[in-house]
Amino acid sequence: MDHTYRPDFVYKHDNPYHDRLGEFQEFVLRDTEGEAFSGHWNEKYFKRQAPLYLEIGTGYGDFMMEFCEKNSHANFVGLDYRFKRSYQVAKKLSKMEFKNFCYLRARGERIALTFGENELDGIFFFFSDPWPKKKHHKKRLFQLPLLQNAYQVLKPGGKLFVKTDHDGYAEWMENLLQNQGQFTVEFKTKNLWEELASGVFTTDSAPFLSTFQTKFERIFISQGTKIKAFVLTSTKASSSLTN
Ligand SMILES: C[S@@+](CC[C@H](N)C(=O)[O-])C[C@H]1O[C@@H](n2cnc3c(N)ncnc32)[C@H](O)[C@@H]1O
Repeated sequence: MDHTYRPDFVYKHDNPYHDRLGEFQEFVLRDTEGEAFSGHWNEKYFKRQAPLYLEIGTGYGDFMMEFCEKNSHANFVGLDYRFKRSYQVAKKLSKMEFKNFCYLRARGERIALTFGENELDGIFFFFSDPWPKKKHHKKRLFQLPLLQNAYQVLKPGGKLFVKTDHDGYAEWMENLLQNQGQFTVEFKTKNLWEELASGVFTTDSAPFLSTFQTKFERIFISQGTKIKAFVLTSTKASSSLTN
């Protein structure tokens, strides 16, 4: 599969898990199916007004499940493009009693087609594949077009929460952030957990990011890797959300 970042990505595949995901049509949408709800997720899909959050690259779904359980007042869309992993996540999600979520087997490059302008309260982007080799950097998902799309779909003052294990990817992100005007860096750290423990910042200045560890985050921490993190705030206006 060609992973090069393409904002005009078109779905084309032949994977048995695509059909198997149909077992979970109560809360799973595949490829462009989610795009039918663009601009109307709360009224047409969730059928209730609530803060709406997106996670790009849900992985094994641990953060998605924890967040949905702790925040029953919120609506949540999680997406990942891996087929088998999506099926495994869907099986786990099917056991959750309160379904305040939708799972998309879809690609992050298409968020501007999946959500309407000013529709999301927040976007979670945790441990995106770093593609460490220089010749693969074009495959990284954190790119200026992604930031432009995130700006478009976030409400004024909406937030993009980012964590990464990879020093080079964190530097790449910082460089891109210096070359755009859509987000301000409200919070950043090169070592989330150590700085929190040593009091460099407190749970008051980074409360949300320090309330959870994703599955990949736990693995990286167990390997002694420092967790880099950002809270980016849309420059459209100020927000009532905290870090
Ligand atoms: C390293 S894993 C991290 C998973 C999870 N966020 C965590 O922290 O445990 C990265 C995930 O992003 C997904 N991913 C990578 N590129 C993607 C894309 N373009 N669209 C959607 N998901 C993507 C991968 O399939 C993988 O599950």
